Amino acid sequence: MGFICTNCGVTYAKWQGKCDSCKMWNMMESYRLPVKSIPLHNHPIKQNSTQKNQPKKLEDILVSNQKCLLSPDGEFNRVLGEGIVPGSLVLLGGEPGIGKSTLLLQIALQLKQVKVLYVSGEETESQIKIRASRIGLDADHCFFLQENTLESIINHTNDLRPALLIIDSIQTLYCQEEEGSIGSINQIKSCATQLFHYAKMSGVAIFVIGHVNKEGTLAGPKLLEHMVDTVLQFEGDKQFLYRMIRTIKNRFGATSELGIYEMKANGLHPITNPSKILLSGHTPPLNGIAIGSCLEGTRPLMIEIQALITETKYGYPQRNATGYDLKRLTMLLAVLEKRAGVRLNDRDVFLNITGGLKIEDSALDLAICMAIVSSLKERTIPHDHCFIAEIGLGGELRTVPKLDKRILEAKKLGFKEVFIAKQRDPFIKNFAIKINQIESLTKLT
Ligand code: TYD
Ligand code: MG
Repeated sequence: MGFICTNCGVTYAKWQGKCDSCKMWNMMESYRLPVKSIPLHNHPIKQNSTQKNQPKKLEDILVSNQKCLLSPDGEFNRVLGEGIVPGSLVLLGGEPGIGKSTLLLQIALQLKQVKVLYVSGEETESQIKIRASRIGLDADHCFFLQENTLESIINHTNDLRPALLIIDSIQTLYCQEEEGSIGSINQIKSCATQLFHYAKMSGVAIFVIGHVNKEGTLAGPKLLEHMVDTVLQFEGDKQFLYRMIRTIKNRFGATSELGIYEMKANGLHPITNPSKILLSGHTPPLNGIAIGSCLEGTRPLMIEIQALITETKYGYPQRNATGYDLKRLTMLLAVLEKRAGVRLNDRDVFLNITGGLKIEDSALDLAICMAIVSSLKERTIPHDHCFIAEIGLGGELRTVPKLDKRILEAKKLGFKEVFIAKQRDPFIKNFAIKINQIESLTKLT
C-alpha cells in the first residue's frame, strides 16, 4: 500500500499532508502499488508492435500524412486546434449533468465520413438511443457498446477499426490486470496509460469523458491531465443555457480557445456569433452598462459589463462580482478612488458579466470602470461605444494584445466609437470606426 498525489501523480510510501513535488495540500490518496511492474517493451499492447524502437535523426523520422478529422461543428474543431488528430487521446472534463455525453454523442453522430465507436459504461444502449433520437441525427457509421472492461473495448476496437473511439467515462472503466475497484486511482491511471499507448499505436483518436466535482478535486481528472494529449473543460452554469468548452492543454494547438454552445431540447447548438447574444442592446441604454472586449483564445468577444452601485446602508461596504475575479475588482475600485477621485468607500458595488461567462482578460478593466462610474453618476453610456484597455495602478490606460482584432470585431458589430490606450505607433490600418486614444482614467470619469 502506498500513497499517491492526485494532483501530479507522484507516489509516496507514507502519507503526508503536502506533496513535495507539486506543493499541493490534501491531495494524497491511498494507492495499491502494482503487484509486478510490466517492463514497457513487454507490455501487452507494445508486443503487437513489430517495429523496433531506435533513436532516429530528424530526417529519418517519417511524418504520417494522416489528415485531421473535421467535424461539421466548427466550434469543436477550433477548440481542438485543427480538428480531431488521429492517434490523439483527448480528455473532456466537466461537472456531472453539464452535457459531456450529449456533446460527444453529437460529435459521433455528425462525423459521417468515418466509423465511430461510442462506448458507454454509464448508460445502457437504449438510453443512448433515446438520446440520439433526441438529437435527431441518423447514424449508419456509428456503433454503440455498453462495456466497462478495457481489454474488451480494445478487442472490439481492433475488430471494428473505427477512426474515433469515444469512452464515457474513464471513471467507469475497469482494467483486469490492475487491482482496485472501478474508479479508483489505480484503475484510472492504468486505463489512461493503456489507452494512450493504444491510441499512439493504432492511430485511433480516443476521447474520454472524466467527471469533476464542484471543487474539481476528484481523483482522476487532475492526474489524467498530465497523461493525455489534450484536455477540454466543459463548463457553464446549469441555470444558464450557455455552455462553454475551453482548451486547458493542447499538444496540437493553442490553449485558452473557447467554444460556446446553447443547450436546447435537441442537443447542443454551436453559437457562431457569440458577441451578438452577449449584448442586450437596451434602447434607451441603461446606466451601469458598458461594453468591453475580451479575447478568448483567438476569438475576440464583445461583452456587456453591468455594475450597480448603491449606498451602503449598514456595516461594511459590499463588493460582489459574478463571473469576474473579486480581487481584480477591488484593485480597480482602489485605482478609481485614488487616481480618479471616484468615492466608493460608502457604496456597495455589484458587478456582473452577462451570459454566465467567467472572464479574466484584463482588457475589460476600462469597461468595468466605466460601468461603475456610469452607475454611480447615473449617466448612461451610448450603446455604440466600447472600451478596450487595461488599467495600471497609476490610473493609466495600457494597451492590450491583439488590439486590431478587437477593434475589427467592434466595427463588425456596428460600434461607432472605441476607447483605447494611447498608442506609441500610429495605426496603419484605417478601421472606419472612431478611435479615441486616452492616456489616463481621469480623462473619462
Ligand atoms: P448529459 O450529456 O447527460 O450530461 P453529462 O454527461 O455531462 O453528465 O446532459 C445533461 C443535461 O442536458 C441533462 O440534464 C438533459 C439536458 N439535455 C438537453 O437539454 N437537451 C438534449 O438534447 C439532451 C440530450 C440533454
Ligand atoms: Mg454523461
